[in-house]
Amino acid sequence: MNKSKIIGAGHYLPERVVTNDDLSKMMNTNHEWIVERTGIERRRWFVPGKDSVTSMSLEASKRAVLHAGIETADIDFIIFATITPDYFIPGNGVLLQRELGLQGIGALDIRNACSGFVYAISIADQYIRSGMYRTILVVGAEIQSSALDKSDQGRSSAVIFADGAGAVIVQANQESDSGILSTHLHADGDFAEELFVKDPGSSREVRISQEMIDAGGFNLYMNGNAVFKHAVVRFYEVILEALKANEMDVSDLDLLIPHQANLRISQYIQQKFGLPDSKVYNNITEYGNTTAATIPIAISEAWAAGRMKEGDIVCLAAFGSGFAWGSALIKW
Ligand code: UT7
Repeated sequence: MNKSKIIGAGHYLPERVVTNDDLSKMMNTNHEWIVERTGIERRRWFVPGKDSVTSMSLEASKRAVLHAGIETADIDFIIFATITPDYFIPGNGVLLQRELGLQGIGALDIRNACSGFVYAISIADQYIRSGMYRTILVVGAEIQSSALDKSDQGRSSAVIFADGAGAVIVQANQESDSGILSTHLHADGDFAEELFVKDPGSSREVRISQEMIDAGGFNLYMNGNAVFKHAVVRFYEVILEALKANEMDVSDLDLLIPHQANLRISQYIQQKFGLPDSKVYNNITEYGNTTAATIPIAISEAWAAGRMKEGDIVCLAAFGSGFAWGSALIKW
């Protein structure tokens, strides 16, 4: 049977570094509070006129292709996870496809926010296992900084979310037993409005009005406490589910790559599983929370840093808006 394997990864981060001190000039916050509550020291924001979700994902994809040692033309499907597309219609997958010169192949957009990349990996895995596709480009890319309320009112979200792009190449592997072992997806729509962008919406007489703009409904709203409380429970459950499904326990795990939501969430999970620092990859200190892009950026960085090697058991896990959460267990 076909198994799907991640054979290359790449990422792109905008060059504009925004420190906590920079934020404290825009809103009533400070470096100490942000570091203590989130672990974030700096993040990247896109450069208007230079970066777009498409351009960042293009760069990340080119780097992933190079790392995988394939040709762009080998890609036979694109899965693009973002909740901050360049256009709302059409999705970002086709824009990336055009830039890659891959006109004609399928391009699918995923809108599962922070869990988008894990959902995308799961879909890629199913397509490859079924034999439908052989080489899939899976991307997570976001520009969140243009949808943040940078006043005091929005400070709890504005200090967390940021911009960036990551991409991986997933390919059919019949030669060894390494590859994606299983994926586990969940959601609970009861909590849809705990982390959401209300406007513009289609079920209004007019999709966007001055009134909506004045009310700030197009900014990201987050009930941080509710998200935090659910995240710590769901992360734990879904990692355990992945291990159990493969008759493994936490001692089999070589590396956990959690979605970079908040360093405190990652540390809580690490402690609960009793994992040493060497078995958990975090980069939120440098980049903040880039939603669907955090995991592919982390994969790309961790791989380049030699944090995973052939045969390692790696777990990806995510939780976010929806609420939606999921995990993937991979033999590297
Ligand atoms: O990617 C997945 C989705 N997102 C997440 O997983 C994020 C989950 N949630 C969180 O990370 C945390 O809830 C936050 C970092 C958003 C907030 O941290 P918290 O420890 O839950 O703080 P809080 O909301 O309970 O606020 C504590 C205090 C409040 O002041 P009072 O009422 O105690 O006087 C806030 O007004 O901190 C205040 N506060 C701030 N102060 C300085 C909130 N944001 C800020 C800020 N700077 N940026």
